[in-house]
Amino acid sequence: MRIEEHVALAPYTTFKIGGSADYFCNVRTKRDLEDALAFCRKKSIPFSIVGGGSNLLISDSGFRGLVIKIELRGRLSRDIDTNFVEVSVAAGENWDTFVEEAVLRGVYGIENLSGIPGSVGGTPIQNVGAYGAEVADVIVSVTACNAETGTWHRFTADECKFDYRTSYFKTLVGRKYIISEVTFRLQKQGRLNTSYKDLTNYFIEHKELPTLLSVRRAVLEIRSRKFPDLQTYGTAGSFFKNPIVSASVAARVCKLFPNIPLFSVSKNKTKIPAAWLIEHVGGFKGSTSRNVGSFQNQALVVVNYGDAKADDVMEFGNNIINDIYAKTGIQLEREVQLVGVFDVQ
Ligand code: EPU
Repeated sequence: MRIEEHVALAPYTTFKIGGSADYFCNVRTKRDLEDALAFCRKKSIPFSIVGGGSNLLISDSGFRGLVIKIELRGRLSRDIDTNFVEVSVAAGENWDTFVEEAVLRGVYGIENLSGIPGSVGGTPIQNVGAYGAEVADVIVSVTACNAETGTWHRFTADECKFDYRTSYFKTLVGRKYIISEVTFRLQKQGRLNTSYKDLTNYFIEHKELPTLLSVRRAVLEIRSRKFPDLQTYGTAGSFFKNPIVSASVAARVCKLFPNIPLFSVSKNKTKIPAAWLIEHVGGFKGSTSRNVGSFQNQALVVVNYGDAKADDVMEFGNNIINDIYAKTGIQLEREVQLVGVFDVQ
């Protein structure tokens, strides 16, 4: 495995933003990963992991340490019984290629997660979700290397502590684990879930019965309307998480904005769509500042319309955070992962 120096990172992200890494390597085997982590320990430098680069905002000054690009490949499928199949997929595999293969094979469970950019290894970290499904529903285990000791551990789904857009791997103690493989349990005879509003409407409008293939087609079509073409513009998808608030906060916000859509998560927890706040409370939808904007078809998506800098993106995001906080008392949290040091905090 070769460790390069002074490597530009922007091309490795879908935002197309960021400075250079002091050190950079491609990891193709588990041994490569162990060596890369040993290099960091020896030099006492930090590491940062890049998979598909679809949820990252890298600082304009880059990263003072080793950036490890996960290129682990391969998948292994096991028949469990008449109902289930388990597939172990290496972290560097493209997520949507895996979803497409599952749909073509006729196995259920991830069709609603079609069209999400990025690699398989990134999906458990933020418990990727869309259109009424999330990877936590189908993950059996996650294999990861402890960066401090170089030893391997297999996490059960429970140990992953999945929640809305988060997991153990995002916590202070969990961050030292580098994911090499994820095992999914998919169903041979599944039930399709088209209860998400956009999907329900699609099948009503198209007068079509949902099948595995048509659900994938529907999700891809809906996504193509809501997200900018990654070949044309840079983006990391949703820039913020949807805030989850207590019943009393939800009631207060509802009094201020009676049209706000609210989604009950549990008895005392309500999810508020950040996109709605950004569009209807902040008025930011479709607005731009220094080549950074909130996408005209989905307010939660922040777009790099030209040669935007990471600091411009941060400033744009901070304006939204401050404005929504001033008007509602709700503090939006960024969903994108920040890498490196930022001038604009
Ligand atoms: N809405 C607006 N304005 C907009 C867009 C949406 O007011 O411009 C309101 C609507 O009321 C809509 C609600 O917000 O009903 C929810 O919108 P949408 O269904 O588009 O989903 P979202 O909550 O904004 C989440 C995920 C997306 C995922 C979609 C579809 C998060 C942070 N984002 O967005 O995930 O694709 O649901 O299921 O949970 C990502 O994480 O990068 C991502 C794109």
